[in-house]
Amino acid sequence: MSSTGFDVRRIGGRIGAEILGVDLTQELDPALVTEINAALLEHKALVFRDQHLDDDQQQRFASLFGELTTAHPTVPSAEGQPNVLSVDGEAGQRANRWHTDVTFVRTPPKASTLRSIVVPPYGGNTLIANSQAAYEDLPEPLREFADRAWAIHTNDYDYAVPRDQRSAERRAQFVSRKYRTAHPVVRVHPETGARGLFVGGFARTLLGFDSEQSQELLRVLQSYVTRPENIVRIAWNPGDVVLFDNRATQHYAPDDYGDLPRLLHRVTVAGDVPVGVDGRTSYVVEGDEAEHYTPAVA
Ligand code: SIN
Repeated sequence: MSSTGFDVRRIGGRIGAEILGVDLTQELDPALVTEINAALLEHKALVFRDQHLDDDQQQRFASLFGELTTAHPTVPSAEGQPNVLSVDGEAGQRANRWHTDVTFVRTPPKASTLRSIVVPPYGGNTLIANSQAAYEDLPEPLREFADRAWAIHTNDYDYAVPRDQRSAERRAQFVSRKYRTAHPVVRVHPETGARGLFVGGFARTLLGFDSEQSQELLRVLQSYVTRPENIVRIAWNPGDVVLFDNRATQHYAPDDYGDLPRLLHRVTVAGDVPVGVDGRTSYVVEGDEAEHYTPAVA
């Protein structure tokens, strides 16, 4: 039990906890928020069951951890809600590639909140991986390589596996502004100082390597992130809220629910510029600065 009165129940060996005894529809005391943030740093992904928030309440909760970004740099927001991204399976928004949110910009979000509105009776889970545990798992020579490596992240890539003819339209929207950013492959967490692998789907090439070599090397690094030991699987019920640390995780939404409806709303907290092991910071290669993002054109 925390000193402010909630329980933390771990749901994975290396990542994930459910927070019991917190009502996110209510104003939260700053001491409680500090403890939730500490739980987030420790467990990386927190699940709050049965909250049934609306968009305003979700935004108020997310903003306890910092300023909000707009919904997305290129994808339009939910109707009338510039900071809310609708993740609608029926509209083909199925994020079935491992990724960390929006790493193609210089300041990827610090944290993401997801709220389940409609969930299928089976499937439609979200998998979240601990990328700091992945770093710890690297054999020493690979860790030394990763510590020095830099990757170019871009949105100009198939973020979801194409499933129908609307995919081309969605892809055109996703790349309507192009971003390429150089990030360190190992990111030092700004709050804890812990090192974590910072790659994922948007990382397409490694500086100093051609695209084929990059893919091979990234695949090896990525295999440590997606080891089953480093993953928690979240099965949604309507009204749940998940908060995860975008600086220490990757996630994946399996496309395993056919044509059943699934709708989540996502609100993200603005992040800082990633810092590598040697203290160097990420830099823009193509695109605008996108700090907190420019609203997408509908
Ligand atoms: C996302 O990548 O933000 C969406 C995750 C999900 O659909 O579970």
